[in-house]
Amino acid sequence: MSKGLEDVVASTSAITFIDGVRGRLLYRGYDINELAELSNYEEVAYLLLHEHLPKPAELSAFAADLSSKRTLPVGVKSMLASLDTNSDAMDVLEMAIAALGIYDYPVLPLNEKAASICSKIATVVAYLHAHSRGQTPIAPRTDLSHASNFLYMMNGKVPDETAERLMNIVFVLHADHEFNASTFTARVVASTLSDAYSSVTAAVAALKGPLHGGANERVVEMVAEIHSPENVEGYIRARLAKKEKIMGFGHRVYKTDDPRAKIMRKCAEQIATTDSELRELAVLEKVQEFMFKEKGLYPNVDFYSGFVLHHLGMPTELFTPVFAVARSPGWLAHIIEQYSDNRIMRPIAQYTGPTDERYVPLTLRAGKITE
Ligand code: CMC
Repeated sequence: MSKGLEDVVASTSAITFIDGVRGRLLYRGYDINELAELSNYEEVAYLLLHEHLPKPAELSAFAADLSSKRTLPVGVKSMLASLDTNSDAMDVLEMAIAALGIYDYPVLPLNEKAASICSKIATVVAYLHAHSRGQTPIAPRTDLSHASNFLYMMNGKVPDETAERLMNIVFVLHADHEFNASTFTARVVASTLSDAYSSVTAAVAALKGPLHGGANERVVEMVAEIHSPENVEGYIRARLAKKEKIMGFGHRVYKTDDPRAKIMRKCAEQIATTDSELRELAVLEKVQEFMFKEKGLYPNVDFYSGFVLHHLGMPTELFTPVFAVARSPGWLAHIIEQYSDNRIMRPIAQYTGPTDERYVPLTLRAGKITE
């Protein structure tokens, strides 16, 4: 028995390779450092979904397909419009992905469905952002890249090249990560031969948790509480003394630097210009240094990503939904891989409960409080 399934090989996969000792991450054999520097959302989504980097004609057809699928069905839009403006964004996202399944009619072939979910999930997040502020959602444009259109829908203006590049880096870094909790959840659901929308809805539910997708929100809150670098040691010491986890640190697989965190840190250093950004960055760097000294722990991708997302205009409460937008090609690639050689996931439990209880009729159980 391995608690939390640590080191358990649950299936074969040809999508993503992580070398947790050397700190390497590969998507279909390509190093994340190269992909982050040279590639973009469309290419990486294609690579994950179609198993090879696209040729020029394949890329333009894929990009055109994604952009043609951006508009939400009217039924989904009115469902979103009917919600309280202060609804939890991840709850809304779960509902919206499930609802997209209801409106997938006539039923799309799997590859089309994958492109449709990857495309529409960005529109849903932009829509719920506008709705939560009582604003009219900005309709997607078909002439912009996925990253550029997402920033346009979120911020109301077409981003400059630097912001588009940064958004692409965030998308590429988060696109897949082997059998993390949400991806594994998606595969479990797909293994029952449930549909792709249901599998992605379940993945979104798993991503919602603070131990998975919710960590960067808490990093931002922590940095605000710490406020300046000289408070770092006292703050972290007090938290560790209470046996609290410091968000953005540790990883089940990486025993060294998370390569994504190194890239995010470099981005953060390049974009920090205002006084408050420089102070926040100094706090982050001091926390990183102190956590390594005290606990020997390295930052994970969530440690610097909140800083970068703020710079791109993303509000803290939407960090996890943005993670979902980025992770959707990975989820879909795994769902497709699961279907391609499926066997229902059905592990067993090591039973630790009683084995010799005798049934006592309700009337004879007086005095036994069960609730
Ligand atoms: N702060 C303080 N101590 C930690 C932390 C942390 N963030 N992470 C691990 N440790 C310690 C932990 O207390 C334990 O020490 P000991 O053996 O003395 O009890 C040891 O390191 C092993 O930790 P674990 O909780 O058994 O590790 P895990 O593999 O079960 O959990 C993790 C991995 C990422 C959930 C965990 O490190 C954690 O809760 N980190 C904070 C949340 C976070 O940043 N999550 C984002 C993960 S990366 C993005 C993603 O994949 O979603």
